[in-house]
Amino acid sequence: MKNLAGKIKKSFPRDTVRILRMAGKFGDDMGLAVYGVGGFVRDLILGFENLDIDLIVEGDGIAYAGYFAKKQSGTVIPHKRFGTATVFLKSGQRIDVSTAREEYYLHSAALPEVESSSIKNDLLRRDFTINAIAVGLNRRNFGEVVDLFGGEADIRKGIIRILHDLSFEDDPTRIFRAVRFSHRFGFGIERKTRILMRKTIEQSFCKRLSGSRIRNEIKLLFNEKDPAGVIEKMVRLGVLECIHAGLKFNPEKFKLLRRIDKTDIAVDSVCRQETERWLLYLLGILHGFNKNELEVISARLMLSRKERETVMSLIKVEKACKKFGSIKKDIPSFVCRALIGIPPEGLVMVISIANERRVEKLVLKYLSEWSRMKTVIKGNDLLKLGFKPGPEFRRILEKVLFARIDGFLETKRDEIDYVKKHFM
Ligand code: CTP
Repeated sequence: MKNLAGKIKKSFPRDTVRILRMAGKFGDDMGLAVYGVGGFVRDLILGFENLDIDLIVEGDGIAYAGYFAKKQSGTVIPHKRFGTATVFLKSGQRIDVSTAREEYYLHSAALPEVESSSIKNDLLRRDFTINAIAVGLNRRNFGEVVDLFGGEADIRKGIIRILHDLSFEDDPTRIFRAVRFSHRFGFGIERKTRILMRKTIEQSFCKRLSGSRIRNEIKLLFNEKDPAGVIEKMVRLGVLECIHAGLKFNPEKFKLLRRIDKTDIAVDSVCRQETERWLLYLLGILHGFNKNELEVISARLMLSRKERETVMSLIKVEKACKKFGSIKKDIPSFVCRALIGIPPEGLVMVISIANERRVEKLVLKYLSEWSRMKTVIKGNDLLKLGFKPGPEFRRILEKVLFARIDGFLETKRDEIDYVKKHFM
């Protein structure tokens, strides 16, 4: 494929085509060569919609982005250190602009040091051949493909291939990216690429990655379609070790991951309870870890407070599963006591680990009904009854709530009588 102009016109919405034409025109105005590059070119060739426009400019990318924004009454955020900028148009469209560059890595996994250079060097520093295809946008070469590493042929053959032997060492997040693209497109990872990937893992290069970069990659991976399939691929390729050396897998755990898929859908449809999918699958792979290990992993991944709490809820999840195994009669307040404080992702895990219809029903009932119940009396009513404000209040109100959930109390009068009888 030599020229994509026809395909651009056919595949993109009219507004996107206009933006791409304009991008070239602004380059012409400034005497700069402008190219589209990366995911959106790859997806254009593959026939998938991708409206994330990435541009490379041979010259001053930041000045170009400023000109673009000014001409379109948009705004621009420059990142001087990297020679990149993001333009935001009024329509909400975002355009990432970078300066065609050659990169010198100070040490592996560090942020790149940037120096201006040509399109070829810019493409050479990219992750895989399929992501290293550029398309000219200036008037003289609109739609012309710059494919220096056989990216288009690899797309046709369905292959993920790095451009040079040090690619994974330069940027170990590419290990995760290889899995992501291979899974998303059903592509194979080329043999040498796989060998170098393995070598980079074995030499512990991932240790140099910051927690937030690994977290980000995990999030992207587990938000792909069929996360259980993604994890199976990670296990096969030995990539889970980059997260934690102790991440062991057995057939049971694979089955659990497959159950999570179904449970999540059931929970969402019955209770309209949305979960964070990537966190849910993170819990899936961490099932069976003890408190200390969970803390170490949460710290390594630099999880936010809320994410960390969700991960730590696994301890309560495992306890709840044990409790459900031992109760004979399903008393609602007993169920509530076991589940209270567990976030939705943890509740999906309870159902998936227990793998019993009875437990599923109880958790769904808890989510859709019991967890939403409230007492009629509040702290004020306890004050009127002569109680002194303090932690006691919470304990009493919780007991009243559980009695209500068990069906013993209906009216406000019932609740006040209950308090008088048990706490005065
Ligand atoms: N890139 C790279 N190495 C990385 C990250 C990105 O070489 N570690 C390059 C690739 O050329 C990639 C482009 O930057 O195509 C844009 O990166 P990103 O937006 O993360 O990926 P996309 O390819 O657009 O993938 P997605 O469809 O998942 O957004």
